[in-house]
Amino acid sequence: MMTQRKSIHGEWSSHIAFILAAAGSAIGLGNIWKFSYMTGMNGGGAFVLVYLLCVVVIGMPVMMAEVMLGRRGRQNPINTMRTLAEDEGRGRHWQLVGWMGVVAGFLILSYYSVIAGWTMAYAVRSATGVFSGMDKEAVSAVFGSFVGNAEQTLIWHTIFMVMTGMVVSRGVRSGLEQAVRFMMPTLFLMLLMLVGYAMSTGHFAEGLQFLFRPDFEELSAEGVLMAMGQAFFSLSLGMGAIMIYGSYLSHTASIPRTVTSIAFFDTTVAILAGLAIFPIVFANGLEPAAGPGLVFETLPIAFGQMPGGAFFGTLFFVLLVFAAWTSSISLMEPAVAWLMENHGLSRVKAAVWVGIVIWIIGIGTVLSFSAWSGKTLFGKTFFDLVDFLTSNIMLPLGGFLMVVFAAWFMSEKACREELALSNGFAYRAWRLLTRYVAPVAVMLVFLNAVGVL
Ligand code: TRP
Repeated sequence: MMTQRKSIHGEWSSHIAFILAAAGSAIGLGNIWKFSYMTGMNGGGAFVLVYLLCVVVIGMPVMMAEVMLGRRGRQNPINTMRTLAEDEGRGRHWQLVGWMGVVAGFLILSYYSVIAGWTMAYAVRSATGVFSGMDKEAVSAVFGSFVGNAEQTLIWHTIFMVMTGMVVSRGVRSGLEQAVRFMMPTLFLMLLMLVGYAMSTGHFAEGLQFLFRPDFEELSAEGVLMAMGQAFFSLSLGMGAIMIYGSYLSHTASIPRTVTSIAFFDTTVAILAGLAIFPIVFANGLEPAAGPGLVFETLPIAFGQMPGGAFFGTLFFVLLVFAAWTSSISLMEPAVAWLMENHGLSRVKAAVWVGIVIWIIGIGTVLSFSAWSGKTLFGKTFFDLVDFLTSNIMLPLGGFLMVVFAAWFMSEKACREELALSNGFAYRAWRLLTRYVAPVAVMLVFLNAVGVL
């Protein structure tokens, strides 16, 4: 008999709703904004190849483990890890994995919201025709003066945090689910259209080469670490977001199948974004290594030149805001569920408190591009530090511990029940990936990055 806990915080209305919500969490600024600038900064092809390897070899097994733990534990990540560890006769300290996730979620959302705010500002600018006919210098100047203006970016950051808090405070079904249903398909179509534009620039082949011809000379040990961090970030792994979404999943859904579709959608969107952005970069003689401003300095050029660009530009940035929105709610949900389940706060109160704390941390990122842009520690601004610490350290470490817990500390019976892999081969493959391949790969990348290997 299967031991089933019931979630006190509701369930998705269907499997498709879970896939949509998890894909909504995974697909976000990470796929379009971050993937493209990271790829640009790390020389292209080799980074992309290592990224893809990380998605398959590490990301998918970790995601299966994370969904499985969530569905079995049925609570916020802190309680889930503690309860499951107790079930298996292990120590309570496994709950620290949940704690680290909650902290990582706060830190990530603090800058995510700032960048989502930039995206909103760009939607407004497109709508008012600011970019029409602009060349690359003009577009760069707009970007520079915008991010340098802390007052403006802070206002947008505030608006985005309020939007996120509003959806989270409405709860699983009416809030989270509704938001994703139609946005994701539309965003996908818009990306296809941009790829079409990129083909017309005459530099598509150059873009393809940059993305798919690996030159390992270009990739440093830190670049490999960043590729792995990006795989965790893009798939929303290692902090409990996917775990808590899994906790709302019914027991009849197949975990391996849902995970495969989520990873597939997420990766496709990232690659499409690269195919849209890099040809524009090369066509305009821009620097692929421009950093976090890359999409904001390339896409407006395309929109400024194509017919109907003001319309499409607005639509694109609006959709990107929605993509960011469906991701940000998953960053906030674990902490909110924890306050509700362990401290008896109402959903609304919990969302307000969490929102305020994250908003305050976000001011550091706002200032990283203005007043504090020259203030660095180890050569990194506040934003760079928070990003490095979360994506490259906390998420891989969290994911490592989750997969190790699922593969080594959970009983085989529990794993088989959750995964329902009746096929013996599929089960053995899962076991091999989660016990050995994924954890060893994470460790190797870490050791490589600190220079031990
Ligand atoms: N995956 C999202 C993106 O690519 C960001 C995100 C949402 C995330 N939830 C997360 C990242 C949890 C890490 C952990 O934009």
